[in-house]
Amino acid sequence: MAIDLGTIELTFCGHAAFAIKTPGGKHVLIDPFLTGNPACPEELKHPEHVDGIFLTHAHGDHLGDVVALSKQFKAPCLTIVESAVWLAGKGVDATGMNKGGTTEFLGVKATMTHAVHTNGISDGGAMVYGGEAAGFVLEFENGVKIYHAGDTCAFGDMKIIGDVYRPDIALLPIGDFYTMGPREAAYAIRLLGVKTVIPMHYATFPVLTGSPAELEAETKDIAGLQIVALRPGETLTGRLKRLAAV
Ligand code: NI
Ligand code: MN
Repeated sequence: MAIDLGTIELTFCGHAAFAIKTPGGKHVLIDPFLTGNPACPEELKHPEHVDGIFLTHAHGDHLGDVVALSKQFKAPCLTIVESAVWLAGKGVDATGMNKGGTTEFLGVKATMTHAVHTNGISDGGAMVYGGEAAGFVLEFENGVKIYHAGDTCAFGDMKIIGDVYRPDIALLPIGDFYTMGPREAAYAIRLLGVKTVIPMHYATFPVLTGSPAELEAETKDIAGLQIVALRPGETLTGRLKRLAAV
């Protein structure tokens, strides 16, 4: 049976960027790479409300507009410790946490999870240490749990994420090259035991060749699995009802 997002509105902004309206009415962003994102619809490049930002790691295609949006909206940013220190130096109200920890952020219970990826921050020609790359499991006020894997390869401890946090929906990179591709994402889905998957981090740039069709082919034996390939600008709410793309 399809899960019920209730009043959560989950909008795919293209690449790994999502805008979420929480049951508590807060507008939160994950990895808001918007103005420079070739996959982000014009209508989503300049959000009207931002209450807070989750940042999985500080590569440019995730950091994106974090500094500008955080300052514009006085919106706090939750990320890993070392990236938070760097962001604070840029004037961002950043909170640094670390993996395995859970904190409440704008009414959302946020757990920082492991990811296997790098996290250097490109800063004026230098590469600054940003700590490790991470993911988040977000548990909303209505009990729905959404896992944003960040950038990662498949790794065995996804089994722990599945067992301990039991995400209802997983947002998984499938583009290949910088992250896992469909073959590895299919393995990740088995480890996570998750039944609803939204593919991300594909097609934004020519090198990101993995496709939802390939992921479907790799997972057709998994009973009850639903792969929801959102187009940038589409919103998911309720019983996985799609609201038209902006
Ligand atoms: Ni990255
Ligand atoms: Mn990336």
